[in-house]
Amino acid sequence: MPADSLSVTDNRTGAAYEIPIADGAIRATELRQIKVDEDDFGLMSYDPAFLNTASARSSITFIDGDRGILRYRGYPIEQLAEESTYLETAYLLLFGELPARDELDGWVDELVHHTFVHENVKRLMEAFRYDAHPMGMLVSSVAALSTFYPEAARIDDPEIRLMQAKRLIAKVPTLAAWAYRHSRGLPYVYPDNDLGFTGNFLSMMFRIAEPRYTPDPVLERALEVLFILHADHEQNCSANAMRSIGSSRVDPYSAMAGAAAGLYGPLHGGANEAVLRMLAEIGDVRSVPAYVERVKAGEVLLMGFGHRIYKNYDPRARIIKETADAVFEVTGRNPLLDVALELEKIALEDEYFVSRKLYPNVDFYSGLIYEALDLPTAMFPVMFAIPRTAGWLAQWLEGIDDPEQKIARPRQLYVGADERDYVPVEDRVTRELVAV
Ligand code: CMC
Repeated sequence: MPADSLSVTDNRTGAAYEIPIADGAIRATELRQIKVDEDDFGLMSYDPAFLNTASARSSITFIDGDRGILRYRGYPIEQLAEESTYLETAYLLLFGELPARDELDGWVDELVHHTFVHENVKRLMEAFRYDAHPMGMLVSSVAALSTFYPEAARIDDPEIRLMQAKRLIAKVPTLAAWAYRHSRGLPYVYPDNDLGFTGNFLSMMFRIAEPRYTPDPVLERALEVLFILHADHEQNCSANAMRSIGSSRVDPYSAMAGAAAGLYGPLHGGANEAVLRMLAEIGDVRSVPAYVERVKAGEVLLMGFGHRIYKNYDPRARIIKETADAVFEVTGRNPLLDVALELEKIALEDEYFVSRKLYPNVDFYSGLIYEALDLPTAMFPVMFAIPRTAGWLAQWLEGIDDPEQKIARPRQLYVGADERDYVPVEDRVTRELVAV
């Protein structure tokens, strides 16, 4: 019997099978040989939320959820947050190695010169209602970019692919800042290519009438750290969307619009927005115990707690907490911080959270920083989407180059009606139906 294999006996038939194990996994298609008879389709595995299904071979991001480890291309997130910049990290994610000095300078210079968008994109954004959610505006404007760069459809050309990656990384902050300006009724600010990546972003967000916006270096660095921490997180909901949509070989703008839509949801990138709403609802440290009781009674979730992968702690949350302290030195202390600290303290000691391995995740403190920057909560998922652009593109590029990639097409377990004859409308009875 080969050592790296799984012996399976089908108790329905008594038949025995040897299934190879490689990299700690069996190939799901190996199960198809397990049949009751020749007409049988073959055994499938059922995993609706991909709880135990590897959907890709990847060398981008490594996570050990039990030990709280996160690495990009092998480099620990703590070191990158300490030493790197977002654009350098984006290069690392895309190309697999840290750039040499000349490569880094060339990369940064090139990206800086892709920050402008076509004036018609601006007009498109201006057409949104005054109260449009900025994430909806971002999703739509990213999708719209595909119509401005029709050559992006030629995804088999590596140079064209890379050009779209550069454009997206450079332009998403512009779209994000304009979505914010729109929500405030402020004129859109064009990029200032003499500023650094995060300094330019702050300028596009906050510049009013000054001829030259001077970003606060502490806030610039805090944003670099936040962007590095959010740049990738392997096969999460939005990365999975990026790969899945990308597997149809559509252009990256369209694929990324789908990924960003995934990030919009309150269980993914929308969680930081939900955390702030929750903290505001609690409002006061004295109300924390009662809120925790509601969580334990299953009435509400403790937003910003828990993670599908991290069951020890989220290493990003620890770094963000330090970043928050630096930001509050500049902006003043966010009064909701005390509510957050009390919530964290109680939850970390409570049996309900301890036994379920629920710890603060990246979103628990990031929202407090964004609020200190005076951003409306609706902008929080947008702040997540800006740096995740690099991760989505790295995942997309890896998928495109993967010789095993085929169009994503999961199976289903059909549990609906068996064949039945069509009934003319006059012969049907009225029933209270709910959409199923
Ligand atoms: N508050 C209260 N109970 C929770 C929470 C929470 N935040 N998260 C999980 N649980 C409970 C859950 O009810 C279940 O309890 P029981 O075993 O009694 O049924 C148990 O813990 C296991 O939870 P699960 O739903 O199986 O965990 P999951 O891996 O499916 O969900 C999660 C992960 C992140 C969706 C979930 O923890 C959650 O909804 N958290 C709040 C939203 C949030 O903060 N999301 C941001 C995730 S990090 C940023 C990102 O990558 O997008």
